[in-house]
This record gives sequence, structure tokens and C-alpha cells, in this order.
Amino acid sequence: MIFGNLVDRAARRPSGLLGYLLYRFPLGHRPGFDLVLDRLPPEADDRIAEIGCGGGVFMRRALMSGCQGLAIDHSPDMVNNASRLNHHAVKSGRLEVLHGDAAQLPASDSSFDKAYCLNAFFFFPDPEASIAEMARILKPGGRLALVTSPPEFEPQIARFSKRMASSMRFDAIETLDDWMRTAGLETEEMKTTPNAGNLIIARKGAVA
Ligand SMILES: C[S@@+](CC[C@H](N)C(=O)[O-])C[C@H]1O[C@@H](n2cnc3c(N)ncnc32)[C@H](O)[C@@H]1O
Repeated sequence: MIFGNLVDRAARRPSGLLGYLLYRFPLGHRPGFDLVLDRLPPEADDRIAEIGCGGGVFMRRALMSGCQGLAIDHSPDMVNNASRLNHHAVKSGRLEVLHGDAAQLPASDSSFDKAYCLNAFFFFPDPEASIAEMARILKPGGRLALVTSPPEFEPQIARFSKRMASSMRFDAIETLDDWMRTAGLETEEMKTTPNAGNLIIARKGAVA
């Protein structure tokens, strides 16, 4: 139970000082941030959404493009931390940070050019509903970038913490691709990388 709570406090719903430090300095997540910013960079006139934003470090980098953003997390502490880290953007109205669940996003239909979900999807209890939600909030032609841990990462994470590994899913990239298609998204790029894990970029069709 204590370890279960530790997984929550450290990763699934981070909180307190530990959560602050881990997601203010998410060093292990940098390869995924770099990869996504290279493959699907936000542009100045984009409206982007990030689901499972943690401490707001990826969003801070994305906002450097000049885009507008919405960051969502189900951890109240992460909502506070991401807001504080990006307080200039929040104050100027370029960024909104909201408490919400990936399977029921607090956002309107067809309202974002790009959506991002990094190092969080493996915790979402209903992956298909979460992808359907990300598809729902994208404009026709909008794109989703998803970075998540592949099956190859499981032994290494289990060596670090069996409890952590058993609280995550390690989805094969083909499964992600199937879920994208079911949600009306067409995969444009998918690959498994040694440092960032699975990357999939998918585009919403005109009638999804
Ligand atoms: C491992 S952290 C990663 C944070 C950040 N994306 C990064 O790469 O550093 C996972 C984040 O996903 C959030 N999260 C997990 N399940 C969620 C859900 N069902 N809905 C919204 N956020 C969720 C957690 O609260 C946490 O902030």
C-alpha cells in the first residue's frame, strides 16, 4: 500500500515536494520532448493542448514558438506547478492550465491544431477513450503526438520498481496505431526509439 501510494505520488498523480522536483526537472523525459518538438513543432499561430502535462516543462518549451496552449492534468499539484512555471503565459492569456481527466477532457470539439501527450498515456485507465478524446478536441487536419513506453521498456522499469511497472501499460506500437485508426486518426509516423520509447504522430481526417 505504501509503495502503491509512492507510485501515485511520484508518477501516476504526482504530489508534494517529490512530485514537484521530479516534474520540474524531468531529465529522463527530455529525449521525448526533443523528439516531439523536432517531429511536430508547434507554430506561432497554433492552438495546442497537452494532456498529462506534469510540471509544465514541455509546455514551456512549446510556448517558445509563440503558440497558445491548454495544459491538462488530473493532479491538482501538477496543475499548480505547471501554472506557476508558466505564469507569464497564464497571465497574458496565452496558456490555460486545467484540472481534468484524459478520458473526459475539459475542452471543446475541434478546437486545437495540435495535441501532445508525453510519458503519461501508460497510466490512463481507458486508453481508447483517451485517444478518442484527443481526436475529438483536434480540428480536422489537426495532429496528435503521443510518446509512451513500449514493451521493451518493461524489464528496465521493473528492475527499478516492480510496483511502478505493474501500474503501467506497455503498449505495442501496432496497438497504438489500431487505436488511432479507431478514433478517426491516420498515423503519419510511428517509431520506437531507445531513449524516448514509442512515438506516434497521427492526423485527424476531415470527417473524424
Ligand atoms: C510521469 S508524469 C509525466 C509528466 C510530463 N508529461 C512529463 O513528460 O514530464 C504523468 C503525468 O500524467 C498525469 N496523468 C496520469 N493519469 C492521468 C489522467 N487519467 N488524466 C490526466 N492526467 C493524468 C499525472 O498526474 C502526471 O502529471
